[in-house]
Amino acid sequence: GAPETRTPTGAVTGAPAVANGQQGAFLTTSQGARLRDTDHSLKAGARGPTLLQDHHFREKITHFDHERIPERVVHARGAGAHGVFTGYGAQEVTRAGFLRKGKETPVFVRFSTVLGSRGSADTVRDTRGFATKFYTDEGTFDLVGNNMPVFFIQDAIKFPDIIHAGKPHPDREIPQAQSAHDTFWDFVSLHTEAQHHTMWNMSDRGIPRSYRTMEGFGVHTFRLVNEAGATVLAKFHWKPKLGVHSLEWEEAQLLAGMDPDFHRRDLYDAIEAGAYPEWELGLQVFPDTPEETFAGIDLLDPTKIVPEELAPVQPVGKLVLNRTPTNFFAETEQVAFHLGHLVPGIDVTNDPLLQGRLFSYVDTQLTRLGGPNFAQIPINRPHAPVNDMLRDGFHQHAVHAGVAPYRPNSLDGGNPFPAGDAENAFLDVPVTVAEAPKVRANPASFDDHFSQARLFWLSMSPVEREHIVRAYTFELGKCYHQAIRERQLQCLANIDPVLCAEVATGLGLPTPEPTVPLADVTPSPALSQVGRTWPAD
Ligand code: HEM
Repeated sequence: GAPETRTPTGAVTGAPAVANGQQGAFLTTSQGARLRDTDHSLKAGARGPTLLQDHHFREKITHFDHERIPERVVHARGAGAHGVFTGYGAQEVTRAGFLRKGKETPVFVRFSTVLGSRGSADTVRDTRGFATKFYTDEGTFDLVGNNMPVFFIQDAIKFPDIIHAGKPHPDREIPQAQSAHDTFWDFVSLHTEAQHHTMWNMSDRGIPRSYRTMEGFGVHTFRLVNEAGATVLAKFHWKPKLGVHSLEWEEAQLLAGMDPDFHRRDLYDAIEAGAYPEWELGLQVFPDTPEETFAGIDLLDPTKIVPEELAPVQPVGKLVLNRTPTNFFAETEQVAFHLGHLVPGIDVTNDPLLQGRLFSYVDTQLTRLGGPNFAQIPINRPHAPVNDMLRDGFHQHAVHAGVAPYRPNSLDGGNPFPAGDAENAFLDVPVTVAEAPKVRANPASFDDHFSQARLFWLSMSPVEREHIVRAYTFELGKCYHQAIRERQLQCLANIDPVLCAEVATGLGLPTPEPTVPLADVTPSPALSQVGRTWPAD
């Protein structure tokens, strides 16, 4: 018989661990019967009808008919790569083993646009996803971030709304993947917390030159805990070794026509040529105070950054992407990231956007990946040993042994928590949850919607400002509804009078007066792409 092997979930089975469908020298059916012919269906005579009994024909066509799975509801278009992460050491702030000095951890990264469908162009103006799966010894850690450090909304309950507003109009299904339309501008001018992220989209950050030249951000504030149990709050940053670079708008337009795969091709070609893309992972670290603020900035508000001048990004490791996927579907398409995939030493905070994401990803993946066992798909398999009590379900690949999938039990010798084991286990940091009434409300600090958009604008170099003005003018110029253009101009007036006047002039509209006092902010040179250097050497 076949040698005894263990499945990824640790169960004993007689079958080969890897069912790759490409074993042996001969073409077979999926049941392993050798085939004589795969080009002719079985017919009643050369000119006769095809026979229902032709199993090979039906198996081949039926499988083909079911080749497609639903694309991701957002971030449908992406490109992935394998690599290795090496820690520099961060034990003072977190006990996470993969950050220890010299520790190497395999990773898979998927970059994506947000709004376009799977077949859309790469160089459109959009936010980019930057999702990293660290296959650590302590379980899988997913850092599911974007190339912009803020998000459109503060509460996950609005996520369906912003995405409905950003996706093509339901009647005409246009535009495909750009922000040049009425529903997008309608949403962001009514839900003004979106103005900061929108400014990032209108800036050069919305049209990156390459995935290799993007920064990445975990956006939310996380809580880190060290070996001694001390906690800090922290934000994750990826800094590209090649620096941050963008396309010119005209280049992006031409490329979308000439080479819609521009970013995907660039990533693949660079890795195949041995020009491995590199990033440093960095942390902004803040004291874990009861207010959860730093320099007056609410760390739970995902529409806010903390300027790097106030909290420098401290490097904690290096990422090198050095291997392209073997099969796009198996890896890039089937990979399933989740913010809740945490390792000991990293925990979540009460950021209401983060809290909602914790629910959303696994829920969508249940549909997208056909049931609850997608952690067994090769790209999603942890590299740490798995010994769970999850059983059965569609596409169950493990052959679980034993009769008592519950603990404790007296039949399978099952106590999963041997003495001393707790020290190495995940810790839900026992933060105090304030006794407070149930409310549907935000903290008052979430009401400031314009000051950081102003901070961003004032931190830009002249050429970056010119690009921002042109982007607002172009995109708003595509709106059909004058009232929406005017409402967005009002938001710009509340951000900066010069910006507002220049866009208004471009649109041929009057410049409104601000309705809120202009925020008194100190520019953050680190936000500009011009003259940016990283790493520090
Ligand atoms: C997918 C980032 C907010 C729901 C993704 C992906 C990224 C990402 C990078 C693509 C993952 C991949 O490559 O497979 C972010 C960031 C957010 C954010 C940085 C804010 C800080 C949200 C919110 C929700 C949400 C608030 C819902 C409440 C989803 C869903 C998917 C997705 C359903 C598709 C997942 C899949 O099909 O596997 N997000 N997202 N996201 N996101 Fe988010």
